[in-house]
Amino acid sequence: MNTKKFIEKQIDEIKKTVGSGKAISALSGGVDSSACTVLAHRALGPQLKVLFIDDGLMRQDEPGEVRKIFGKLAIDVEIVNTSDEFFDALKGKVDPEEKRKAFRYTFYKTFGREVLKSKAAYLVQGTIAADIIETKGGIKTQHNILEQIGIDPQKGFGFKVVEPLKELFKQEVREVARELGLPESIYLRMPFPGPALATRIIGEVTPERVALVRKATVIVEQEMAPLKPFQAFSVLMNDMGTGIEGGKRKFGHIIIIRSVESRDAMTAEPTPVPWEVLTKMAGRIVTEIPEVTRVAYELTPKPPATIEYI
Ligand code: XMP
Repeated sequence: MNTKKFIEKQIDEIKKTVGSGKAISALSGGVDSSACTVLAHRALGPQLKVLFIDDGLMRQDEPGEVRKIFGKLAIDVEIVNTSDEFFDALKGKVDPEEKRKAFRYTFYKTFGREVLKSKAAYLVQGTIAADIIETKGGIKTQHNILEQIGIDPQKGFGFKVVEPLKELFKQEVREVARELGLPESIYLRMPFPGPALATRIIGEVTPERVALVRKATVIVEQEMAPLKPFQAFSVLMNDMGTGIEGGKRKFGHIIIIRSVESRDAMTAEPTPVPWEVLTKMAGRIVTEIPEVTRVAYELTPKPPATIEYI
């Protein structure tokens, strides 16, 4: 792929599609939506509104970081906190696909509302090729594939969807992001799923459980950073395990550390993490998050396991 030509072509196409109308970009801070947002901003300038839905399921400090990075590129980001709606929709749900569906529906509902408010006719989003292939293959229902979930975006929410990256794989998106002037912290960023930390919680997604997995994720990301894994994160299990604190037995949460190496996320191998790094992460997690009593490292490749847990 010639990255420069690809960028020019997409800018032209976005301009042609949107014309003199208004568009909204759905920014999450990941490499896909960031590249997509800068492309759309180059094409549309002030016709584009960049919206970040704070669903309450993001990693630590994510909304602030996103605003800072895009501020440096002179792109304004409007942050709308709709976390209550997401937690309401996820309440009581334990089935993985039900959680994904609840997330997806709430995403489009809250986003759709903002698009309607701003009178934008187009939603620009960073769907990439793997999202489409895996959804069509029935591997999972991606949150960003509208037809798959039976939503006609125009009828249901009043906007058309523009997906300039839909033919690219992750590595190509990284090249586009780099060429567009995004910082390394974005173009080399580990993939992060649309339904965010909800994909890393087995069982019910509550604010308290999200807070636990978020804290463990900070530790895993910090300790794994020097190894530059394709993707490393923590997962909160639904079962509990006994531990000891102050000479007394206590029942606590179980955290799984997952780290994988992959090219395009279609297949993956567990990262061969040095023992000292594994034990340091486990030690930090149980010390810094006293509600956790056990930590394990996941060894399953994809397939048969998927990278995320739901
Ligand atoms: P799985 O778990 O299916 O994940 O092996 C493959 C890659 O996709 C990411 N992922 C998602 N990305 N929306 C996204 O934008 C989603 O619903 C979603 N689910 C998984 C995952 O992090 C991995 O990189």
